[in-house]
Amino acid sequence: MTDPILDIRNLSVSFGKLYALDDISLTVAAGERLALIGHNGAGKSTLFKAVLGFLTPETGSVSIAGHPPGTDAARIAITYLPEVVAFPRSLTGREVLAYFSGLRSATRTGIFDLLDRVGLTEAADRPVGTYSKGMRQRLGLAQALIGAPRLLLLDEPTSGLDPVSRHDFYEVIAEAAARGAAVLLSSHGLEEIQSRTDRVAILSRGALRAVGTMEDLARQAALPTTIRVTALQGEADRLQSELGGRRINGCRLEIDCTPEAKLALLARLGAHRDVLEDIDVTAPGLDDIYRHHSRSSDMEERT
Ligand SMILES: Nc1ncnc2c1ncn2[C@@H]1O[C@H](COP(=O)(O)OP(=O)(O)O)[C@@H](O)[C@H]1O
Ligand SMILES: [Mg+2]
Repeated sequence: MTDPILDIRNLSVSFGKLYALDDISLTVAAGERLALIGHNGAGKSTLFKAVLGFLTPETGSVSIAGHPPGTDAARIAITYLPEVVAFPRSLTGREVLAYFSGLRSATRTGIFDLLDRVGLTEAADRPVGTYSKGMRQRLGLAQALIGAPRLLLLDEPTSGLDPVSRHDFYEVIAEAAARGAAVLLSSHGLEEIQSRTDRVAILSRGALRAVGTMEDLARQAALPTTIRVTALQGEADRLQSELGGRRINGCRLEIDCTPEAKLALLARLGAHRDVLEDIDVTAPGLDDIYRHHSRSSDMEERT
């Protein structure tokens, strides 16, 4: 494997008595999109700020393409879209990008393409003060793409975007990753993360609870699949005595099983099809998987 662009080792950051980050180790490789998820106050923004060198860690280290945070080499490698995007309201979108191009010593020739890529060509010469939140977010993304960064830090970049803009946003992020950028982004949208990022890291109260693909996290959680059976009048008792499960009412039964046991159970149910009215199979959802990983950590904390 190639060396990671972002390498975080045993990072702890405290604000007085509060450990906002507690012994975090995490890597992001070139071309990889890693999503950070966690409740409000979990430490996501603090992690971005530590990578940027805005905060001094208590312990641990951060390396950006081999350089410590805050050094010129690290600053050149990183671009950042903060949680709250604020640009001077009187500048136009084009002027904002020209300003950031200057800061990063990038040529201005790419600005037209960037504006086009984020759908702001029409609004390019309007003051940012007239932009909607979604337009400011998109300008923020364009800003983060200036100068071919090696590491993109995007703090809740899709909050406040409509579904179409959100989709386009992830397209642009995918292109940056395909060019070899490492992307670390935070989000609350589990659906979008599952389909639009490579790995997920769950942060809860400053600690990293699980890291992997959504499929990995689903497997680790080992949550049951639930099969809901509706039996014909008067048949539920017999079904329950044969198959187990919980009675929901006079004719409905819920049976939990592992994903592997699902087909065998459905086959057994098939043998009773003359007394079945309906069958419904529910696999654990993304919310259940996320809740499992954040909650199991709460239980560990209490013991
Ligand atoms: N500058 C600060 N001073 C004191 N506490 C802070 C500061 N910044 C963040 N915190 C606290 O650190 C914790 C993590 O915050 P943050 O990283 O902003 O969470 P998230 O981005 O996941 O919502 C919270 O409890 C927050 O109140
Ligand atoms: Mg935050």
